Amino acid sequence: MSIEQLESIAQAMVAPGKGIIAIDESNNTIKKRFDAVGVPNTEENRRAYREMLLTTPGLNQHISGAILYDETIRQSTKAGVPFTKLMLDAGILPGIKVDKGPFPLAGFPGELVTEGLDGLRERLNEYAKLGAKFAKWRAVITISGDAPSGTCIEANCHALARYAALCQEAGIVPMVEPEVLMDGAHDIDECYEVTEATLRSLFASLYEQNVYLEGTILKASMVLAGKDCPEQSDIDDVADATIRCLKASVPASLPGIVFLSGGQSDEQATANLNAMNQQGPHPWPLSFSYGRAMQQAALKLWGKDMAANFASAQSTVAQRARENGLAALGQWKK
Ligand code: 13P
Repeated sequence: MSIEQLESIAQAMVAPGKGIIAIDESNNTIKKRFDAVGVPNTEENRRAYREMLLTTPGLNQHISGAILYDETIRQSTKAGVPFTKLMLDAGILPGIKVDKGPFPLAGFPGELVTEGLDGLRERLNEYAKLGAKFAKWRAVITISGDAPSGTCIEANCHALARYAALCQEAGIVPMVEPEVLMDGAHDIDECYEVTEATLRSLFASLYEQNVYLEGTILKASMVLAGKDCPEQSDIDDVADATIRCLKASVPASLPGIVFLSGGQSDEQATANLNAMNQQGPHPWPLSFSYGRAMQQAALKLWGKDMAANFASAQSTVAQRARENGLAALGQWKK
């Protein structure tokens, strides 16, 4: 795979008016989502649910790629079509979550470091053969008391950069995701400081590891007040602070930035992205890579009655894709 191919995949991921649906919940995380709507967490239910999402009519109009989990990338539709083939035929890029999740950082109580570098080269080569065009690695940064420490930020960014270099070696575009969690009572200024420090450390690490930025996508968290902060940020505050923070820390050579939804409501996630794009043009396309803000309404319907609500769940997915696609252009209206 050439550098030009990596670049063109990265650019396709953030094509105008398109974004990514994250359906890469680990089996533990999807259990939480299924429990909330009373669906048993069996392999067949996970497969059927992902089939419902991926076969949504017209999904490719606003969705450029979908992030899958290790189990999902090996699964097929009920009729026997591998999910990756279904996606590639529809022009939707298969992505794969390759980290092994966050674990406690020894010596730093309450802080986390994402693991999964051991054996990653072999796993990436296998995923490339299975059809993966891009990958995701999520680091988790918690704001609480004195945390995050510089050590936590650096350890996570070092791992993100090692992962990114291995992805590019395997011909896979790395999506690098340092998520600053919304959990906590911190205000928007504190979120800004932590996000800026994290992004600066990330791009320094990517540089040190010879990662090719033109073939890399940043998955960022928005700059906003913590969930328990008495003063919640409004749409303009989030848009202003997030854009300021990204401009201060992300090189213009990056082909695009996508956001996670992180626990925001569907409408908040769309409205915030839209407001940022209305302030454009920016050095990079700004789009979405939402998990919950793409799926939660559809999962509720599907969970109530998988057969009777199949079509309405799919139209909900299509609607969320359309709204977020418009927000990626700054053209969404409430
Ligand atoms: P949320 O949009 O639900 O935060 O999920 C996106 C994601 O993939 C986090 O890694």
